Amino acid sequence: MPKDTVTVIDNRTGQQIEIPIKDGTIAAPELRKLKTSPDDFGLMTYDPAFMNTANCRSAITFIDGDKGILRYRGYPIEELADHREFLEVAYLLLEGELPDRAQLAAWKAEIMDHTLVHENIKKFIDGFQHDAHPMGILQTAVAALATFYPDARNIHDPVVRRLQIVRLIGKVTTLAAYAYRHSMGWYYVMPETELSYAGNFLNMLFRRTEVKYEPNPVLERALDILFILHADHEQNCSTTAMRGIGSSHVDPYSAMAGATAALWGPLHGGANEAVLRMLKEIGSVANIPGFIEKVKKGEGRLMGFGHRIYKNYDPRARILREMAEKVFQVTGRNPMIDIAVELERIALHDDYFVSRKLYPNVDFYSGIIYQAMKFPVDMFPVLFAIPRTVGWLAQWQEMLLDPEQKIARPRQVFIGHEVRHLPEVEAKAHPVGA
Ligand code: CMC
Repeated sequence: MPKDTVTVIDNRTGQQIEIPIKDGTIAAPELRKLKTSPDDFGLMTYDPAFMNTANCRSAITFIDGDKGILRYRGYPIEELADHREFLEVAYLLLEGELPDRAQLAAWKAEIMDHTLVHENIKKFIDGFQHDAHPMGILQTAVAALATFYPDARNIHDPVVRRLQIVRLIGKVTTLAAYAYRHSMGWYYVMPETELSYAGNFLNMLFRRTEVKYEPNPVLERALDILFILHADHEQNCSTTAMRGIGSSHVDPYSAMAGATAALWGPLHGGANEAVLRMLKEIGSVANIPGFIEKVKKGEGRLMGFGHRIYKNYDPRARILREMAEKVFQVTGRNPMIDIAVELERIALHDDYFVSRKLYPNVDFYSGIIYQAMKFPVDMFPVLFAIPRTVGWLAQWQEMLLDPEQKIARPRQVFIGHEVRHLPEVEAKAHPVGA
């Protein structure tokens, strides 16, 4: 009879242990039983960047990277993108189930009500340089919210926790829009709470002198779908930061400021910005073969390609590739799409990319759509951070409620100096002539 265990023999001592396999994993602390002497710490695993280590049990998002599957709470991302709106999906991620009609209406009203921010926030955003990167402003503004809501530190109270969640989902659009308008030197636009979440965000970004801002319905829906696609992605770098910082039981604003910083990096949410810069540098379809050769020689990466988990086409990239055409019908064609499509075609037939299973990821097409919608490139990571706020908070809450979780504290393999002494201490211990 096969058993759900793995047997490990320590050849140093001949000791043998049997470790239960649960959910396709073994508990790493079990290995500590393998010791070379009673005062030995015990065997550890070594796994830089958590390549093969599950850090939590989670019921929120499922990804099958080989098959290119992404599901939120069991629902395929394609179905959610086609038939639901972002705030419904946010509710699903946080609560575990889709809201009914009444719950959705109440949830939307609550979130939109919390889009308003304290007037002092405008003052400190004003203090930033005119050319400050909006992601830097957002990150700082989110951290600052902790000082506006000291009650947020009471993270074990479910009512307090929920209040911070709705505050953050509501206010992140306002902070993001203020960051943008600051960089443009424009006045800040108050939220319009009767608009949709995406529609109001467009209003706060782009309103000029109109008495009433009416978002273009195609662009409003496109942004809403982009938000759905970016809402969560299980244990990625920024979510791991959110869980790691949150595991110290700090307030969620401080944890989210750290997650926002992690998202900004070019290997993570900053990749959409990097894709656009790359496409601009390539300049034309004719220059693609030369660019691909450079990438293959290790002189730079094909940004928007490759993923730690997806070894197949990222399902979000497929949705976005189709969506781009709909957006272009309103905005006019972004010529970058032709370079991107050709780049994809060539890469998907090139052994370098095929053998490494490098496919387009979500960032490959999102930036082209954002640019067509008139978002400046600096705003791209901010547009990622807005919906990911929901995922971060869902994961943060799940971590707090998980009795198996503790403060995150990995081990290390120490490779530095053995003990050594300062010269003056050494001289005292061994005086010359003694
Ligand atoms: N262009 C060229 N070669 C690549 C690329 C790329 N975009 N990505 C990976 N490789 C190569 C890499 O050089 C390595 O080759 P070799 O085995 O010969 O050394 C091999 O593929 C494996 O790469 P890796 O760096 O070990 O893979 P990883 O899982 O550590 O990195 C990644 C994943 C996303 C950081 C990486 O694919 C990458 O840098 N992509 C470009 C940046 C990007 O688009 N990031 C957005 C990710 S999706 C949005 C998000 O979730 O944040």
